[in-house]
Amino acid sequence: MNQHTRAATAPIPFIDVAAQRRRLGRAIDDAVARVLDHCQFIMGPEVRAAEADLAAFCGARHAITCASGTDALLLPLMARGIGRGDAVVCPGFTFHATAEVVALVGATPIFADVEEASFNIDLRSVEQALVVAHRLGLKPKAVIPVDLFGQPADYDAIGEIARAENLFVLGDAAQSFGALCRNRAVGTLAQATATSFFPAKPLGVYGDGGAVFTDDDDLAGVMRSIRVHGEGTEKYDCVRIGLNGRFDTIQAAVLIEKLNIFRDEIAARDQVARRYSAALADLATVPRLGEGMTSVWAQYTIRLPRGRRDEFVAVLKGQGVPTAIHYPKPVHRQAAYRDFPVANGGLPVSERLAEEVVSLPMHAYLDEPTQDRIIEAVRRALGG
Ligand SMILES: Cc1ncc(COP(=O)(O)O)c(C=O)c1O
Repeated sequence: MNQHTRAATAPIPFIDVAAQRRRLGRAIDDAVARVLDHCQFIMGPEVRAAEADLAAFCGARHAITCASGTDALLLPLMARGIGRGDAVVCPGFTFHATAEVVALVGATPIFADVEEASFNIDLRSVEQALVVAHRLGLKPKAVIPVDLFGQPADYDAIGEIARAENLFVLGDAAQSFGALCRNRAVGTLAQATATSFFPAKPLGVYGDGGAVFTDDDDLAGVMRSIRVHGEGTEKYDCVRIGLNGRFDTIQAAVLIEKLNIFRDEIAARDQVARRYSAALADLATVPRLGEGMTSVWAQYTIRLPRGRRDEFVAVLKGQGVPTAIHYPKPVHRQAAYRDFPVANGGLPVSERLAEEVVSLPMHAYLDEPTQDRIIEAVRRALGG
């Protein structure tokens, strides 16, 4: 193999965390070193500073950091007292943490279908899920729209149903922090919004982490208490059942540095997505953004005709181009969730998408020659 052939088939990273690490270099080293010097590893000053920066970034009144995106979903459900006998509607096409938190608090997740175009929750199916909740004698309490792959759900339309049905709206923005819905930022679109700082997320840290956003002072106060074992005003005062759900000070220090370059990274991701879409739209179903929506492109996910995916993945792998399937099984088909109810009419779109979607490498440091290599490999695999 000559040098040219080797470069043309060398493996491409699916997400290049190391490229960002090189860019941030000393800034991260110094931020972590400051924590190592002051030794306030739990709820140190960086945690409060990161919360102030996150709130300012999206315009929410409160940003409450926590140990993971899953805890960020759990905190508002616990704070609202949602539990046994309650129903929470969530999409079937998502990462299963969305439904996990509902089951963890003892409530019943009812799965709704998603839209073909946006992959986000389908409002007609939400209505059909509410019919099922009433039939089962459950009290519908909340809906958890997921901003899948980085594009916000339609929170204006969801808000209308939620107001009519008195539902709490908890946005699962694990993949979409930084995006906009009709000029309003994720973090301000729902009564509470949860995001994740898992390293592979658009705004990831160097371990687990998450945050909840809300404008509701009372809800924020209760979530802050739950995050630290249900603490009251004194350290050993316990006023409710809580969690050990704190965000590490070292991760907060990392987050502050990453947030400084986040807008620039979002623009770079968007540029990659635009180039992919322009080059592939004639051969595959490329992602579509709804009117007034932006995406932070947590994933760039295309759809292939059914039955083509396995071969496509194998051909790309042979060219050193990694792919990923988000997600091969809808949540309502997973062993842990298949006994929970689904909306009337079932979830045909979620089931079809699970067989057709495939995600391409996406990150802010994907240079144009590498993008072109990926595009060429995809076009060749699809016979273009
Ligand atoms: C849609 C969605 N919800 C929730 C989560 C859970 O986040 P975490 O892994 O930080 O707990 C994730 C991330 O993995 C996710 O993609």
